[in-house]
Amino acid sequence: MKNKLLIIKEFKNKLKILKDHNNSYFNLDKPKISDADYDEFKKEIFDLEKKYEFLKKLNLLNGLVGSPVSNKFKKIKHISPMLSLSNAFNRDNIVDFIKKINNFLNLNDQNIELISEPKIDGISASLVYKKGFLEKGLSRGDGKIGEDILENLKTIKNIPKRINGKIIPELMEVRCEIYIGKKEFTKIQNKFANPRNAAGGTLRQKNPKDTAKIPLKYFAYGYGTIEPPNFLKHSDFLNKMKEWGFQTNPLVKVLRGVEQIEKQHKKIENERSKLDYDIDGLVFKVNDLKLQKRLGNTSNSPRWAIAYKFSAEKAVTKIKNITIQVGRTGAITPVARVEPVTVGGVVVSNATLHNEDEIERKDIRIGDTIKIQRAGDVIPQVVSVDVSKRKNDSSKFIFPKNCLCGAETKKEFSKTTKKQDAVRRCIKGYDCKFIAKERLKHIVSKEAFNIDGLGKKVIEQFWDLNLIKEPSDIFDLDLNKIEKFEGWGELSINNLKKAIFNSKEISLDRLIFSLGIRHIGQENAKILAGFFQTIENFLNLLDLKKRNKFLINLVELDGIGETQTQSIDNFFSNQTDCRIVKNLVSKLKVKKYTLLKTGGKFSNKKLMFTGGFKNMSRTEAKALAENNGGKVMGSISKKLDFLVVGETKPTKKKIDQAKEMNIKIILEKDWNKILNS
Ligand code: IVH
Repeated sequence: MKNKLLIIKEFKNKLKILKDHNNSYFNLDKPKISDADYDEFKKEIFDLEKKYEFLKKLNLLNGLVGSPVSNKFKKIKHISPMLSLSNAFNRDNIVDFIKKINNFLNLNDQNIELISEPKIDGISASLVYKKGFLEKGLSRGDGKIGEDILENLKTIKNIPKRINGKIIPELMEVRCEIYIGKKEFTKIQNKFANPRNAAGGTLRQKNPKDTAKIPLKYFAYGYGTIEPPNFLKHSDFLNKMKEWGFQTNPLVKVLRGVEQIEKQHKKIENERSKLDYDIDGLVFKVNDLKLQKRLGNTSNSPRWAIAYKFSAEKAVTKIKNITIQVGRTGAITPVARVEPVTVGGVVVSNATLHNEDEIERKDIRIGDTIKIQRAGDVIPQVVSVDVSKRKNDSSKFIFPKNCLCGAETKKEFSKTTKKQDAVRRCIKGYDCKFIAKERLKHIVSKEAFNIDGLGKKVIEQFWDLNLIKEPSDIFDLDLNKIEKFEGWGELSINNLKKAIFNSKEISLDRLIFSLGIRHIGQENAKILAGFFQTIENFLNLLDLKKRNKFLINLVELDGIGETQTQSIDNFFSNQTDCRIVKNLVSKLKVKKYTLLKTGGKFSNKKLMFTGGFKNMSRTEAKALAENNGGKVMGSISKKLDFLVVGETKPTKKKIDQAKEMNIKIILEKDWNKILNS
């Protein structure tokens, strides 16, 4: 065998040339070689990797081919956003899902009608039909804005270009999953890691003729916007879709209750390998569309659906070392560095050990033989230790008491659970360079500043090069310096410049979320933005005296409790964090926060609820108030406009206080009338 190092060097050289060809082809639209020569060259690289196990372990080809940078296609906004699904992994999660639906709707029906569909492991797309004609075809993109891949989608057999029917919607966004059949995949598997990657790569070819070469297939599973919404049940919609000539999945089933869900889950899991497409679980959806509408969505996923994943794939390996990682909230997470092992088609070399208590409980040690599992996109976990394979001289793992930055770590006491937290944390904020780096990765992420081209890896790279050390540096980036680095061409630099420039204008809720304050996720960031409304108001938190005043008021907000206010206080008590927020804000234009719905029935009004309602839960009432432009408060104050009193056990004290303060009282029957008016 040739010298290993020499082979790696040769492999990396070839890869560099391939990347250059990719850039010429995908980004510059100026291929330097013919398609045939390109394919030949690409094959050479893949063959080389196949031949040498050590090249495979380097995992350098992952995501390389077939995932060109995202500047090839025109960007188009989805009419309704494309959301994700929350996951269930076991029976308890399903019981919880049904319970939450019942709570929200104020029902007591454990057998609510659901529809079960396979969760196709492909690439999602959206087809827009106007008066029955296929007008747009989009990729998911970031869920709000997708890419125009209409011409490529048109190459897929059975996607109707026109819907024939007596009554058809004026406007319809059809949501579907594109995939490659397993049999077809075997013909091209030397080019892609799995069928899903192959479908993604093929779908995003610049030239639709290249897409047409590989027979992609699809299943339509839902809709975004539909006008007029003429269906009562999701199953009616699917039946109609079939009639209109769309491909729908044959394994769909209407069912009720946990037992039937479990039965269907087991049944399809057993049949899974016989199908010609990959599925990674079942999706359960509330079948009644009126109920779906009432349930609505949280930030990222509908309340009316859940993906019940199939059991995780497992593998046995050995722990080479245990190291720690520091997250953006300072959480210290132990990670097992393991001998690389393939789990469900992916090479795994790290697995999370969660926290100190988990290591103690499972007595996990360096050198141990362990079983790991990987479910979906979740980080692989250690399931169990095979103690019989442990050497006699092995010793317990001693969890480091200090952060990687050297500072002492702390376990907090939770006032809510009245227990000590299992997680150790570094509390240095931006003064800890490990936290700082993670916060930067969070800042550029999709839900925050959403800067295309500035992903986690680039942040690492720019951090090491001293180009970005705090968020404001992103906006002062000297792009001329970057030109010299490998992988950066004129086009990608221009795109990055544009993406950074565009992200300078940001809404207040996104900015608050992007700061990475513990316990302040997207939902809480919205509540806070609704309270502060302008960045000037928000920046009052930087001033200790003003902060205390605001923090007291914050507790009034429904959804913000002591845990959140404490966390905000901790964040802004750190001088470095304050300076960094100020620097960042000085580079931005922060848009005033306005509730999405203006001119609603409770536009600019502050409401508070007491007592339970017959027809809806508190959560639904709150969502309805907010959808109608209102702000929901958690305590009585003079600023309140309405106290809405439900018939079940309202608090007398609140009603008395409201009367004293001349706050208008809305009784349950009037509340229902207002909503229906
Ligand atoms: S329903 C509002 N049904 O899974 C979201 N999704 O994590 C509703 N998927 O991106 C999604 N098969 O592309 C739904 N039968 C199915 C599906 C399915 C696959 C994909 C979908 C989405 C992802 C959600």
